[in-house]
Amino acid sequence: MTDTRKLQIALIGCGGIAQAHWRGIQAHSPRICVTAVVDTDGARAAAMAAQTGATPFPSLDEALAHGDFDAVDILLPHALHEEAAVCAFAAGKHVVLEKPMAHTLASADRILAAAQKAGTVFMVAEQAHYWPDARATQQMIQAGAIGEIITARAVFGGPVVPSDGGPRPWRYDLALAGGGITMDGGAHWIRPLRMWLGEIDEVVAVTGRPLAEMEGESLARAILRFRSGKVAVLDALTAGAVMGPGEEFRVTGTEGELLIEKGRGGRLLLFDKTHPDGQVILHKDEGRAAAFGYELNDFAGAVLDGTPLEAGPEYSLGELRTAFAIYRSAESHGWEKVWG
Ligand SMILES: NC(=O)c1ccc[n+]([C@@H]2O[C@H](COP(=O)([O-])OP(=O)(O)OC[C@H]3O[C@@H](n4cnc5c(N)ncnc54)[C@H](O)[C@@H]3O)[C@@H](O)[C@H]2O)c1
Repeated sequence: MTDTRKLQIALIGCGGIAQAHWRGIQAHSPRICVTAVVDTDGARAAAMAAQTGATPFPSLDEALAHGDFDAVDILLPHALHEEAAVCAFAAGKHVVLEKPMAHTLASADRILAAAQKAGTVFMVAEQAHYWPDARATQQMIQAGAIGEIITARAVFGGPVVPSDGGPRPWRYDLALAGGGITMDGGAHWIRPLRMWLGEIDEVVAVTGRPLAEMEGESLARAILRFRSGKVAVLDALTAGAVMGPGEEFRVTGTEGELLIEKGRGGRLLLFDKTHPDGQVILHKDEGRAAAFGYELNDFAGAVLDGTPLEAGPEYSLGELRTAFAIYRSAESHGWEKVWG
């Protein structure tokens, strides 16, 4: 018999990432039905309602009182994650929450406690876990394609955010964001490193603020030491300059290298004795966008079927903990532990 059960979900926040989630749901999450959309900006809520066919609400409270859904997808500025998540858990809802879990580690702990009390499904949306290129790299490493890993490098170059006279992005405000580029876009570059090299033990880092309008760091250069003893380098930068091509990731092993190119049209390549000029494994673009749908499909399966999430919320704290260890190291000028 065909399983026709659907997960009714409310999108909380109808800004930039809500569009990516909606596209992902349409293309790859057939078991999710968006029945409510919430935004304090009435025009945004109305536009999202027109797109999705869902009912618009001006606040989460209104949606919880009058909407019809079992789960919420929280897509808000970081400092608003806790209030929304705690409220949704108290109402017995399942929660998927955009990264980072919160703007501070204490706030993340309170969210985790509320999730445990509610006993509902809780997931932090980190789409890098579902990137086909990150997964293919993981599989090739496990299959021994590059031998024993020696080291790795991740280079995140964030989008240029021009000072064009528009409203100041909330990301520039430390009180709302909790940090800068490392805990925001940089998180998507930390997750693949963890998938490939295991858990990070400690970091040493410098940070800077080349983008003066942004209160948090817009530059981070970090060395990550993993529990295995291996080391990797993480670079994160968002600046007001156009940036050239290059690599996003490089994993170097005793038998070869895996390299993921930056930008549109970027590819995953294997370099080894048989392919000294590189063998194209896949083109990453389409899969990167699809990953939003894959992650939400994982969430739907956990709610509807009770299947375990590919990455649970405690695991997903790893990127935030790494970012805060980087911030501590930039202050202390020494190695800082990630997990306490
Ligand atoms: N996974 C990714 O690649 C990715 C990319 C961008 C953003 N994000 C994450 O998504 C989240 C949202 O970021 P964004 O770029 O979409 O922000 P955004 O500013 O584009 O959208 C946020 C929306 O929330 C609304 N809002 C603010 N306060 C509200 C409230 N109290 N109740 C209801 N609505 C409210 C705003 O009006 C706005 O429409 C953040 O956690 C961010 O880090 C993830």
